[in-house]
Amino acid sequence: MIGIESKLSDNVKRMRPSEIREILTLTENRKVLSLAGGLPGPEVFPKEELAAIASRVIEELGDSALQYSPTLGVMPFREAVVDFVKGKGVKVNDNDRVAVTTGSQEAIYLLAMTLVNPGDGIVVESPTYLAALNVFRYHGAEFIPVPIDENGMRTDLLEDSIKKAKQRGINVKMIYTVATCHNPTGVIMSDDRRKELLEVASKYDLLVIEDDPYSFFVFDDTNFTHLKTMDSEGRVIYLGTFSKILAPGLRLGYMIADRQLTRAVELAKQMVDLHSSTLSQYIALYAIREGVVDKTIEKARKAYKEKRDVMVDALEEYMPEGSHWFKPKGGLFAFIYLPEGVDTADMLPTAIDRGVAYVPGRNFFSDGSGANAMRINFSYLSPDKLRTGIKIIADTAKDYLASKRATSA
Ligand SMILES: Cc1ncc(COP(=O)(O)O)c(C=O)c1O
Repeated sequence: MIGIESKLSDNVKRMRPSEIREILTLTENRKVLSLAGGLPGPEVFPKEELAAIASRVIEELGDSALQYSPTLGVMPFREAVVDFVKGKGVKVNDNDRVAVTTGSQEAIYLLAMTLVNPGDGIVVESPTYLAALNVFRYHGAEFIPVPIDENGMRTDLLEDSIKKAKQRGINVKMIYTVATCHNPTGVIMSDDRRKELLEVASKYDLLVIEDDPYSFFVFDDTNFTHLKTMDSEGRVIYLGTFSKILAPGLRLGYMIADRQLTRAVELAKQMVDLHSSTLSQYIALYAIREGVVDKTIEKARKAYKEKRDVMVDALEEYMPEGSHWFKPKGGLFAFIYLPEGVDTADMLPTAIDRGVAYVPGRNFFSDGSGANAMRINFSYLSPDKLRTGIKIIADTAKDYLASKRATSA
């Protein structure tokens, strides 16, 4: 057998496993209630409509739908994406261009390729989306974490954090934010804070990545304005995805940003995957035109709101005293802080043995904090299973705390 390890590039040493994907692998083929991934509820998928559309796309457009296509995406789909986001209140500037990407995860990767030099500073919410942290870390970014509360990023702390980073010689380049229905906490940044964020970005000439997979799923009457819409200087890069509003298996996301940046992303994407799936783009195009996307959004919002309520009831009923969380205003996730002393990574194998999975909180912090926190997803399981899953997690946490107390007594 040859030794592969000595052949691997130095790049591989900087790659971190995605904890979520590792947990998904671990729980595959086991009877585990997974609250780990960001999976849409399967009941929400428009299966019949997509089956009919897929077959029509191939019959009607076979030669082009099965063919290679331009790197930035097929034109009618790009145009439909612009109309779609405009209809959802996202402002698109004359100087903007759309890049269709293989999920918004690829957009994050392409942005890191085109914007981040080793040592560049990126402001992130603390906690934030762990797979964005992994990408930026791989590209050598320095993180500038800013805490959040129930109104999103604490923008009152933003300028000071940037100043301190600059004093340390860091070239602060951008802010990455999941401002609406935040992953992992489900909070929504208030408009006042969005304004303040943009003022600070303007003052320090920073780009802003508005990563927005979840703004379709706002459950209560919370008003918000997209950062992209508030921005008058062309510094906001808007990322969207069809993963949660149609199907993640299509692997379709998009970036809307200044044309010069989109051109750089196009060159990067030529190297990575030439273009995103032509077939998926035509399927999504038909689904937008025929109202399937809007129908799916409505169905998902209703289903997820119901599940959010079931989850919050179960958390209140079962979680050990001293636990706390923000009630998610939207999205797919809640972030739970268990009492100090619980290490959720240490507790996970027991939880999986008892039939439930979650993502340990530390993964969502750029500074390694959050040992007593966990992210749970509430969109995937049925309400009954969700309740059962939360009870198992809560019982496991209580047992964990009891055994800690017993060993320290
Ligand atoms: C905040 C955020 N950004 C990006 C993604 C990537 O999604 P996709 O690549 O499926 O579009 C996710 C997925 O859960 C996410 O939560």
